[in-house]
Amino acid sequence: MKHLLRIGDLDSAELIDLITLSQRVKDNPREYAGALVGRSIGLFFMKQSVRTWVSTDVAAIQLGIHPVVIRNEQIGLGTRESPEDVGRVLERYLDLLGMRVFDHEDLERVAKAVSVPVINLLSDAEHPCQGVADIQTMAEHRPLPQTSVAYVGDGNNTAASLIGAVTRAGGSVRVASPEGYFISDEVLSDARHYGEVEVTTDPIEAVSGANVVYTDVWTSMGHEAESTERRQVFAPYRVDLELFERANSDALFMHCLPAHRGEEVTDEVLEHPRSVVFDQAENRLHSFKAILLTALG
Ligand code: CP
Ligand code: NVA
Repeated sequence: MKHLLRIGDLDSAELIDLITLSQRVKDNPREYAGALVGRSIGLFFMKQSVRTWVSTDVAAIQLGIHPVVIRNEQIGLGTRESPEDVGRVLERYLDLLGMRVFDHEDLERVAKAVSVPVINLLSDAEHPCQGVADIQTMAEHRPLPQTSVAYVGDGNNTAASLIGAVTRAGGSVRVASPEGYFISDEVLSDARHYGEVEVTTDPIEAVSGANVVYTDVWTSMGHEAESTERRQVFAPYRVDLELFERANSDALFMHCLPAHRGEEVTDEVLEHPRSVVFDQAENRLHSFKAILLTALG
């Protein structure tokens, strides 16, 4: 693994290796304590974060790595200095760069300019680290080839990485989005190379027969100006108990968080006994350790 900008940077075997390692790290954290002592990594954020920020920082420290958390206000990526020059300076100090950006192109520009691994911590296009944690969470409940995921909502960054990850792991996906908010053709054709993906505008059709129901916010960071319009367009796509009960009787509910309770998901579903959203959040820690061990080991 050189860079991890998109889930497409991993093939099926590499993804399965990552989640296998992640599960090993979760089961035996002591075995990996200090495994990468002496290394330093940068964790750069242009947007807010709870899970990604804290889990990547703690993952690094538990592996013996020194993490430097950098907020964009401190360095001015693309305003004070070009992404390439920032990257070329940081690689002289750091062994790996994790970056959360608005524009995916900023990640690509840094990745092209540097020789250290660049890991996407969320861009407008993808959220691959989330995808890895999500697959691990699914695998904790059911063999991946038997996993059929219904993704209901915006065809956004989380959805793109999820679809690529589930199909690479041998599962299938049905996506329900309103017209105009579909997942990109590029993501679909990549995922269909690995597994079955169906797209519909009908959320009931999507969840029927699914053993995972997944949703994400209707308005992602950076699109706040569209939130009123999106609230109207996406209202029929809310995952409430009625919709969730149309899925298989043992279906899991998943969400990358943060959730906008009452918008894309109701409290009842988020707090449902089959909701695994906090396991997903926990697995961000273990899976980021697996990513660091693979990239730097
Ligand atoms: N799921 C996720 O990436 O959460 P944060 O935005 O809080 O990091
Ligand atoms: N789609 C969301 C995910 C946040 C983790 C966003 O981009 O804001």
